[in-house]
Formats: sequence, C-alpha cells, structure tokens
Amino acid sequence: MALYALGDMHLAFSIDKPMDKFGKVWKKHEEKLEKNCRKLIGNEDTFVITGDHSWGKNLSEAKADLAFIAALPGNKILLRGNHDKFWDAKKTAVLNQEYEPQLHFLQNNHYHYQDYALVGTKGYTFEGPFYINSKGQIVGWDEANEKQAKKLVAREAERLRISFESAREAGFRKYIMFLHYPPTNIVEEESIFTRMAEEYGVEHVVYSHCHGESRYGDSIHGVHHGIRYHLVSGDYLNFKPEKILD
Ligand SMILES: [Fe+2]
Ligand SMILES: [Fe+2]
Repeated sequence: MALYALGDMHLAFSIDKPMDKFGKVWKKHEEKLEKNCRKLIGNEDTFVITGDHSWGKNLSEAKADLAFIAALPGNKILLRGNHDKFWDAKKTAVLNQEYEPQLHFLQNNHYHYQDYALVGTKGYTFEGPFYINSKGQIVGWDEANEKQAKKLVAREAERLRISFESAREAGFRKYIMFLHYPPTNIVEEESIFTRMAEEYGVEHVVYSHCHGESRYGDSIHGVHHGIRYHLVSGDYLNFKPEKILD
C-alpha cells in the first residue's frame, strides 16, 4: 500500500485546448500520465490529485476528463484547483454523491490513508505583479491585488481549518496536508498555511500549481521546520506520480 500524489493534469478531452504549446513535457501528456499511473499505482493504493484537473468550464465539459481520472488505478481523492470551474466549493457534496465510489472530492472534509488524515483545500498565494529593480530585487508589488489576495487567503485558511477539525473530531492525530497553490509565495518564508501545518503537527505538505522551470522554485521544497514539502505539479514530475508514504 502506498500514498501517491500529482497535480495539474489540465485535461481537455471535450474541448479544444492543446497543451503542447507549453513545452515538450506536455506532448501527449495524458498518455504519459496514464502509462505511469498504471505502472506505479495499484488498486489498493491511494492517489491524491491536487487540482487543475480539467479545462472544462462546467461539469458537462469536464465529464470526459473526470471519467479519464476515474479509470486510473487507486483510490482517487481530488482537490480543487484554480482552473476547476466545474467544481463549486459549496456544492462538493453533490459531486461526491454523483461520483461515489469512483472519485472523492476533498473540500471541508477529510479522507484517510492508514492512520493519517488527508486534509486540504485549494489555498491561495499572492502572485504579484511584483516590481523589480535593475538588479532583479523586488522593490514593491501591486497593493490592490494584494488586498484582494488577503481575502482569498483568509477564506481558504478557514476551509483548511474545517478540514483539519473534521479529521481531529474523527480521532485522527496524524496529518498529510494538501494544497493546490504553493504554501508560500516567492517573497514569503511562512504563511497562514505553513503555520497551520506546524500547529497540527503535519508530516507532509503537498502542493502543485507551479508550472515551468522558472516557477518550480517559487515555494518550499524538502524539510522545513520538521515538515517535508513536496511540489507535485504534473510537468515538474514529468507526469510520474510521487510516492508520499509507503
Ligand atoms: Fe495548473
Ligand atoms: Fe493552478
């Protein structure tokens, strides 16, 4: 038994959205992904998919993408990404009803792997624009955007707390935390999300959303304050799911 994660499949089986214009790594990425999943993941394993599943603008446009995910091996748990327009956070129960038992949608609830609770939410980070001087140093940022970002961060932190508390009330004391957005942005060393991970004694934080060489280093990698951070964006992993736990 193992716990795997990968995010940002960016599927588009029903609509025209070619991904290969984003680089070689995206060429036939669905085929690569499916092959890797079949090789690595068994049906007794758990596979958490950390958002940006589908380019579909609504559930009917996302259906074929969700069917592709449902056909992959393992117990699939999905997190919401910023592009997942088919998923209204307030209507997660409807999705869970419709896709039970093939897919599980993680929002204001928790799942588990062995004695670990799997908790999470989309998260949010302020992505600028940042103003840079001739030496490449950040000298300021868009303050109106930052104000809006703070609201989104607060809402997501509240949703994350609901997820943690649902697990705690169910008796869990060990946690793996999933975010779609990175836990910190490029100017932060900590955030409400890293602090919450520390508060609950999380062992692993798993996130995605960062695409392309220039963005892979936007947030924390490896062990930080005793917690192991994993970036699992599909393109970063060349569409090979990462094993988080045995
Ligand atoms: Fe993405
Ligand atoms: Fe994203």
